[in-house]
Amino acid sequence: MRRYRSTLTLAFLSLLFTGLHAQEKFVANYDEAKVPKYTLADPLEGVTDAASWKAKRTEILALFEKEMFGRSPKYDGGKIAVGDALPPFEILGGKAKVSQPVIKVAGQDLRLLVILPAVSDKAVPAFLGYNFGGNHTVFKDQRIALAQSWMKDGKAQNAKEEDRGKSASRWGIDRIINAGYGLVTLYYADVDPDFHDGFKNGIFAKHGVPKADEWGSIAGWAWGLSRVLDYMEQTPMGVDAKKVAVMGHSRLGKTSLWAGATDERFALVISNNSGCGGAALSKRVFGETVGRITNSFPHWFCGNYNKYANNESALTFDQHMLIALMAPRPLYVASAEEDQWADPHGEFLSCVAADPVYRLLGTEGLPSKEMPKVNETMQGHIAYHIRTGKHDVTGFDWEQYIKFAKKHL
Ligand code: GCU
Repeated sequence: MRRYRSTLTLAFLSLLFTGLHAQEKFVANYDEAKVPKYTLADPLEGVTDAASWKAKRTEILALFEKEMFGRSPKYDGGKIAVGDALPPFEILGGKAKVSQPVIKVAGQDLRLLVILPAVSDKAVPAFLGYNFGGNHTVFKDQRIALAQSWMKDGKAQNAKEEDRGKSASRWGIDRIINAGYGLVTLYYADVDPDFHDGFKNGIFAKHGVPKADEWGSIAGWAWGLSRVLDYMEQTPMGVDAKKVAVMGHSRLGKTSLWAGATDERFALVISNNSGCGGAALSKRVFGETVGRITNSFPHWFCGNYNKYANNESALTFDQHMLIALMAPRPLYVASAEEDQWADPHGEFLSCVAADPVYRLLGTEGLPSKEMPKVNETMQGHIAYHIRTGKHDVTGFDWEQYIKFAKKHL
């Protein structure tokens, strides 16, 4: 037994060492010439028409569930419970009305920040997306509740007053409201704190440690977005639940894609700089890789995904098939020139490879196979741009999203 235990300890230490070592050694490739030769699976293999695509879609979705994001528990469709809302108020000189309902899901209290045009008494189309730092960072106003859950620097419940409005430039509420749209946002850590805690917190606490083919944090966050949509459908809150664009940046862009894939009620999907595990092709091994992402963020995906770490050629699918799961709904993929870590070219190529599915379903797809010039938008049923600047969400990005939404929602 002792011997067994020491072998186990050794195995553990060597695993730990290999893990750390791999992490230390990791050098991202940013050279197109060094992208390995790869073949992408054809999402339309065996598909002849819209009806056979439906069956193929189910197969592809199951593959992503089993091998990458993990299967989420089915929701029973019951009424979403609510907690105490805070008093509503107006902002932007009376142009917008704000409410902050709480919904209760899987043992968690999720505080929504709902900002709608004040002039409209009709239900409006809206953008729905998580924020990274708490609702109080989205817009500077004392009346917005400070986040209550885990904060990135590790200490619980330490949201700071001085962080109010810190990420306002990532949302540009004024622009959204002026265009006649609503915004519904919530803090992603209310659903699941973003660190590898052995799935002990957030919505996972109730569920227990996931099996190798069960949900990781990204799937958990996506599941949370679907529950917000349930609430919107169930509650006359001023949002047209049939016209909700799910939007996310970076890890939350990976999340918006998975939400769009698993829940076809989302009418439009936006991936902002989602990169590896999001819109970017993994087989290009450019910038962040499967090995690197599963090492740095072991909680994001399901256990099965680890087998592709530094082994991308073993993938029988790639991210173009995730993009295809949105079809025929309008989808926007956006990159940033200085965000090579997220592989803008690989994000674009995913859209190119998903285009035939969109066309089969009778939509325009992606207007061209050539990447557009920087700061030019290309908008078919799949839209794409690469803008100047770094990994971020900017006013330019939002202008394009709103233009796209105006066309489709
Ligand atoms: C890291 C990570 C990316 C992720 C990003 C973010 O850079 O490697 O995969 O998209 O964080 O979420 O900001």
